[in-house]
Amino acid sequence: MADVVTRDDLLQLGARPAPEPAPVRRRWPPRPTGLRAGIFGVGAALPERVITNADIAARLDTNDEWIVRRTGIRERRNLADGQPLAELAARSCERALIDAGRSAADIDHVIVSTITADRVTPGLAPDVALRIGAHGAAAVDVNAACAGFLYALDQAAALVESGRARTVLVCGAEALSRLTDHEDRGTAILFGDGAGAVVVAGGEMDLGCGGFELHSDGAAADLLYAEVDERKLRMEGSEVYRHAVARMVEATFAALERAGLGPTDLDLFVAHQANSRIIEAAAAELGVAPERVALHVEHVANTSSASIPLALWQAERDGQLRPGDTVGLAAFGAGFVWGAGIVRWKERVHVCA
Ligand code: COA
Repeated sequence: MADVVTRDDLLQLGARPAPEPAPVRRRWPPRPTGLRAGIFGVGAALPERVITNADIAARLDTNDEWIVRRTGIRERRNLADGQPLAELAARSCERALIDAGRSAADIDHVIVSTITADRVTPGLAPDVALRIGAHGAAAVDVNAACAGFLYALDQAAALVESGRARTVLVCGAEALSRLTDHEDRGTAILFGDGAGAVVVAGGEMDLGCGGFELHSDGAAADLLYAEVDERKLRMEGSEVYRHAVARMVEATFAALERAGLGPTDLDLFVAHQANSRIIEAAAAELGVAPERVALHVEHVANTSSASIPLALWQAERDGQLRPGDTVGLAAFGAGFVWGAGIVRWKERVHVCA
């Protein structure tokens, strides 16, 4: 069982006192079209190769007890050598389409959030569109690191609300094993590969998928980055930890305020799944009860922008998430970039396969 970090622990680590909810800088603009966006289906895909903590401890100076206590992670999945990430991403999209009761022909826009595309160019999205049979659909990659899925979801909702697209596939897909320094015990334990997707289309529900608090601070870039030449993630772990908790809490308070809700209105809080202690600390600061928190790092580790759709998919399978639920999403990543959004889960009741 991973330790829970209390507010006092955070203050001792040098964290600022409880962040005040960020001031509301802009109200959600009225949607001129009257259209609303909603989330319809979810899908996920994981590679078959499992790397346990024991596998890492066999070659680095670390151990299962330390990793579980500090991160909550027991194992992670890695793509097979030569396996394209697009294959995994496309599988998650096909499952999301089935779950939504839609077909590839319905898709007019594919947005893939990734920092680990198979090639520098072209991006992953055109390959995903091809693999799922969304011929001719617009297809674009988004790079906002571990916050990328929220940015992509925001863009998908905006396309639907403006009437520029009817049905958008939003996929987070990462092969972080390609960016990991497998000799560095401080980071080698943290990351895994995976893909998750949701379908966004015009919806009926009040809250839908309509407004996100998104922010950035480029001055913090040197705390978490990968250089083009080196292609290895470098990180000041404890600094990143401190900022991740504070920024996700701030953004979630602000998103709740915009939605006219409070933390106790959340049926589920789904934060970027980097480390169970970060998520538990953020939930404690927000005042969200532990049973309303999605914790999905144990078997998949940090899958960057795939982590939120993977956690949504897992939460639904575990019966923790039901159609109509009010869900708080929060993410934080390299940039720094971060954000939060309050969404209503699924427009219509649909039984997952
Ligand atoms: N096994 C054993 N010991 C390890 C270790 C490992 N895998 N990794 C680091 N250590 C050691 C360090 O060398 C250090 O030893 P020292 O005190 O002798 O110098 C000690 O553990 C403490 O290191 P520190 O980095 O301060 O640990 P931590 O409690 O901050 O935990 C992380 C490290 C990486 C787990 C934690 O900082 C973290 O999760 N940060 C955020 C990571 C993240 O989520 N990044 C992505 C955000 S999108």
